[in-house]
Amino acid sequence: MDQKLKGQRALVTGANSGIGKAVAYEMGRAGADVVINYLSGDDIANQIASDISSRFGVRAITHKTDVSIETEVTGMFRRVESELGGIDILVNNAGLQKDSPFDEMTLAQWNTVISVNLTGQFLCSREAVRAFKRQGMRADVSRALGKIICISSVHEVIPWAGHANYAASKGGVMMLMKSIAQEVAPLRIRVNSICPGAIRTPINKDAWDTPQALDALMRLIPEKRIGEPEDIGKVAVWLASDDADYVTGASIFVDGGMLLYPGFATGG
Ligand code: BGC
Repeated sequence: MDQKLKGQRALVTGANSGIGKAVAYEMGRAGADVVINYLSGDDIANQIASDISSRFGVRAITHKTDVSIETEVTGMFRRVESELGGIDILVNNAGLQKDSPFDEMTLAQWNTVISVNLTGQFLCSREAVRAFKRQGMRADVSRALGKIICISSVHEVIPWAGHANYAASKGGVMMLMKSIAQEVAPLRIRVNSICPGAIRTPINKDAWDTPQALDALMRLIPEKRIGEPEDIGKVAVWLASDDADYVTGASIFVDGGMLLYPGFATGG
């Protein structure tokens, strides 16, 4: 087994389902100890942790935290430091949608999405940078002082009617990621985003769970298949590894070509 991340410690937020869960598994498969952050579903989180540790022989712990609350996030990083001795990789994955026609969108729908998807990534990234600086370089495990991977979306650049709060949060993640990357590159901390297209997870079930919906979705995807969570997990491992040592500040689109304006394949 190729264990590119052996001896490293990865914290994955929102790791109890969908993309976060697949990223946690792939980190474990690559030899990293894993922290499964989650907000609800204790049993599922514990089961994922015990499965990862028994399958891959790594340490896996769970930590229940709302990433949008500052004191909870600082507490989570303290726990990671005391239990695993530090952190090498942060994957900012926790995110949600509260969709609504724009003129019906409530302030609560707006605030919830911005708090979790954008403020959560700010709070976790800030604690990660602080931790990387405190613990110093571990040249035996990585050429970088630390790695941050933001899970963004194709909607950091594709406008999305009916989802103004979500698209705004992901546009914000793009500039947050790039600004942090620019600031901490001299410290040898790499910060990048993965921008998934349509991935088969609970967040977008309506877009794939009937033949009609899937058919409509395929018109947006040149590769003509929906993405699977592992498609994202594998890219996350690559980005966290030294194979990507010269990659920072990049938005990596993993979307089967969704960004290629598929409507223009036959029009224009
Ligand atoms: C959203 C999904 C959507 C996909 C492509 C993702 O960021 O969370 O609901 O299917 O973008 O539009």
